Amino acid sequence: MLELLKTRRSTRKYKELPVAKTELDKILKAALLAPSGKNIRPLEFVVIEDKETLLKLETCKQPGAVALKTAPLAIVVIGDPEKSDTWIEDASIASVLIQLEAEALGFGSCWIQCNKRKSKTGENSEDAVRKILSIPAHYGVLSMIAIGHKDETLKAYDESNLDFTKVHYAKY
Ligand SMILES: Cc1cc2nc3c(=O)[nH]c(=O)nc-3n(C[C@H](O)[C@H](O)[C@H](O)COP(=O)(O)O)c2cc1C
Repeated sequence: MLELLKTRRSTRKYKELPVAKTELDKILKAALLAPSGKNIRPLEFVVIEDKETLLKLETCKQPGAVALKTAPLAIVVIGDPEKSDTWIEDASIASVLIQLEAEALGFGSCWIQCNKRKSKTGENSEDAVRKILSIPAHYGVLSMIAIGHKDETLKAYDESNLDFTKVHYAKY
């Protein structure tokens, strides 16, 4: 697990290769296995592979969601605030698990934030995404996770740089 966490970096440049259905299914299993507050599971996932739609989603974030310019796949993580008051936490955990499973399978990924963000035109990012994907108005849109075959190499994290002064034992 630590090795995976050290090598996972946000990939914003992808090769023009699709993510196979078998691999996508594994990533979706990770998303659906994510824990949630009171086990309510208020999340849903919108899988986007259509290039034109990916490029429309790219505009939903200021100054632009660079990763979506080349990614062959994005998973949009949405949650129902009417079902659970921990939907943001639940959606964050699912987003990270999607990224870690993608990394474990050898893919790169990048979290694109939608909650509390604006689109290129200044519109609320969540509204912009909901409109493009016909997501019902009451759903929150936490993130879009871009996934694909890496076309850039980013340096893995080094354990020796970890800031253990942020860890407090027994009391602050
Ligand atoms: C909550 C959250 C929001 C993020 N939003 C964006 C985003 O909108 N666009 C983007 O390109 N990267 C985004 N990222 C990726 C971060 O910029 C990245 O994780 C951070 O710079 C550390 O780099 P690393 O992922 O390579 O370790 C986000 C990451 C997190 C956890």
